[in-house]
Amino acid sequence: MNTYLSGIQPSGRPHLGNYFGAIQKHIELQRDSRGPQDLHEAGKCFYFIADYHALTTSREPEKLRESVRDVAVTYLALGLDPDRVALFRQSDVKEVLEISWLLACVTGTGLLERAHSYKDKIARGIKPSVGLFTYPVLMAADILAYDSTHVPVGKDQLQHVEMAQDMAGSFNAAFGDVFVRPEPIVPAEESLAKVPGLDGEKMSKSYGNDVWIFETGKKLKAAVGRIVTDSRPPSEPKDPASLLLFRFLELFLAPSELREWEERVRRGGEGAPGDGHLKGRIVEAVEEGFAAARARREELLADRAEVDRVLARGAESARARAAATAQRALRACGLR
Ligand code: ADP
Ligand code: TRP
Repeated sequence: MNTYLSGIQPSGRPHLGNYFGAIQKHIELQRDSRGPQDLHEAGKCFYFIADYHALTTSREPEKLRESVRDVAVTYLALGLDPDRVALFRQSDVKEVLEISWLLACVTGTGLLERAHSYKDKIARGIKPSVGLFTYPVLMAADILAYDSTHVPVGKDQLQHVEMAQDMAGSFNAAFGDVFVRPEPIVPAEESLAKVPGLDGEKMSKSYGNDVWIFETGKKLKAAVGRIVTDSRPPSEPKDPASLLLFRFLELFLAPSELREWEERVRRGGEGAPGDGHLKGRIVEAVEEGFAAARARREELLADRAEVDRVLARGAESARARAAATAQRALRACGLR
């Protein structure tokens, strides 16, 4: 039976890349869970807000607290069903820290030195703390603690999931069959696996090139206005595949409409749409696409107690699973 697990850092507002690369899939997978009984007995979907991980870069306690709530509200607004999914705060399950230490003891420093995301962060001037260096060990503990069989993530997290496979393998080789080997699930379409930002690089909170899922009005127009375009006139025939604007349009438009826009751009001439026209359609699509979720978000923001209840219930299910795994691992390596 499959157990799906994923996490998202509360390090800013969830953006379109988070949605199309990960959150959308997380919510789709909840269909596999038959409801509360299934969740609590067998465990199907575990999604958490990675606040321990966020501390590798956050120095603003109040912002971090609010951001945790914001991620929870975002998931619920987008359709996550707390009866089918354990939605919880990472730091509510202390067993993960214990498992993380056990894994650290069977992991070579060489493995961590090869982590792209660590190297990228250092290259961008983030001071390398021990926490940042051992980030993948904690992430492996997150994955292995719940006996996860599948980890749905965007492409940038693939290497981290592979490292979790390595760590599970090392521990099992040393101490017997304790951890389940997880498989990553990355969207097959490149357009979803790596959603571009306004500058054409990977969309990321930390690059300042992101669009908040629930952005509207002037701010949305300003953001979309920043999508990089070239200076060719609308009348010049162009290959839509070469235009960043189409990477955004294809996230939202039905295939038939998308094909129409593509043909008009390819043809060029008098009636061809200019950048402003295409940007206007993107603004509309973001506003329409998330309108229902935006309304639901407003309701949830007003009901803090409900969000607290969901997170507490999720933590309870998650803790039960992680405690069983931790006991198994402690026994296997001689600490019990
Ligand atoms: P960020 O890079 O903005 O800090 P996170 O690291 O919190 O985002 O990512 C949360 C989830 O969203 C992960 O599964 C990650 O792979 C996915 N994700 C993040 N950015 C993108 C993107 N541009 N395209 C596709 N998936 C993404
Ligand atoms: N590192 C992930 C990210 O930045 C968040 C994360 C933490 C995660 N632990 C995880 C994702 C376990 C999947 C599984 O996006």
